Amino acid sequence: MGFKKDFIWGAASAAYQVEGAAFEDGKGLNIWDAFSHEKGKIFDNHNGDTACDQYHRLEEDLNIMSELGLQSYRFSVSWARILPNGTGEVNEKGIEFYNRLINGLTKRGIKPCMTLYHWDLPYALHLKGGWLNDSSPEWFGEYAGVIKKYFGDRVHDFITFNEPQVFVGCGYFEGVHAPGYKLSKAELLRIGHNVLKAHGTAVKELRKGEECRIGITGASCPAIPVSESSEDIEAAKRCYYESNYDAFVFSDAYWLDPVFKGKYPDWVYGFEEINKPVITDDDLKLICQPIDFLGMNIYNGKYVSAKNGVLPNPQGFSRTAIGWPVTPEALYWGPKFMFERYGKPIIITENGMACHDAVSLDGNVHDENRIDYFRRYLREYKRAADDGINLNGYYVWSLTDNFEWGHGYNQRFGLTYIDYGTQKRIIKDSGMFIKDVIKCNGENL
Ligand code: FCB
Repeated sequence: MGFKKDFIWGAASAAYQVEGAAFEDGKGLNIWDAFSHEKGKIFDNHNGDTACDQYHRLEEDLNIMSELGLQSYRFSVSWARILPNGTGEVNEKGIEFYNRLINGLTKRGIKPCMTLYHWDLPYALHLKGGWLNDSSPEWFGEYAGVIKKYFGDRVHDFITFNEPQVFVGCGYFEGVHAPGYKLSKAELLRIGHNVLKAHGTAVKELRKGEECRIGITGASCPAIPVSESSEDIEAAKRCYYESNYDAFVFSDAYWLDPVFKGKYPDWVYGFEEINKPVITDDDLKLICQPIDFLGMNIYNGKYVSAKNGVLPNPQGFSRTAIGWPVTPEALYWGPKFMFERYGKPIIITENGMACHDAVSLDGNVHDENRIDYFRRYLREYKRAADDGINLNGYYVWSLTDNFEWGHGYNQRFGLTYIDYGTQKRIIKDSGMFIKDVIKCNGENL
């Protein structure tokens, strides 16, 4: 059976990781501009001031997308580039940039898939309390309205938020991402509720005017049953769906149950009433607007058995350069379990591997490990398609090497190598492999 005929293959990126031009053409500051300039926060004090300079090298990157045969490009909008203060005045130069990007894509027959929020909150809004401020859903609604007004005639695929687990968990709980806070439970639950209300408010704005498809993308670490016995499968499912109050921020269900089921999971608000933000029925209705797909970013999973729960990986287990375990079955069980729970079409909005890439004497980048990774993961994803799971697409993370948040430029995920000294681009062997996969809709896997 394999992937459907209208399955979409693409590659993904995010504004702060690739654009650069951090202080140009009227762009406002965001929390990553501030955080990356604070000493000691990012590997070797790197920052995204220039990143891949996509802002100035757009044509070249668009041509690479064509060369790879991409059917879609997933990118995010820098909120502060189009609304320097987060709300209010629109920056025409910012609109121009995204128009150039969108028009460049459509001219090449590549579908734009636009993420509204990939972590770069305008600094002006951060100073007003950011997501802790109960007006934040309205701010985000205004931003979504601007997006729809200027780009809605050509963009028909939207993702409201990328990985609330990570930007709230790492940014406001662990303090390792911008803005670098370590907040209390009560504050995190308030942020969570505001982010979810912001999602709902944005969906309402995006629904106005031309028809479009809307999704939300979570960071998911699927539970993989260690065997296919019904006990292990049930145990894995339970482990995947449930979490506990202490770890709620990194779970899937805390974020997705309200969006798809209109209620928080019972284990979130079972106790500690004092920490609970005000949650009204209207809020839940707003959060649970019908949407069209669930985006999943999956890099790895954890093995689970009925007898022993989550199993530690054996010593020497295969890991990528960034240290994440290689667990291809995550791309079978993740989509399968989430489709069973929410019944929505699934799109893998990110999957990929960090490798120690280097340019060989012949001038090319021979990233055999990454090809092997894609082959293994995509075979599992195809197995999910064969099982009748409704899969709509797959996006590689990432089109190019880029600024990998706390790891700076020290981790490379691209299908395209970037020499940051010269900004020269070299399509890696894995880029050509993905090109072949796309050409035959995964028949060669
Ligand atoms: C995800 C992020 C993405 C990228 C990959 C490696 O968590 O969404 O921006 O950094 O990890």
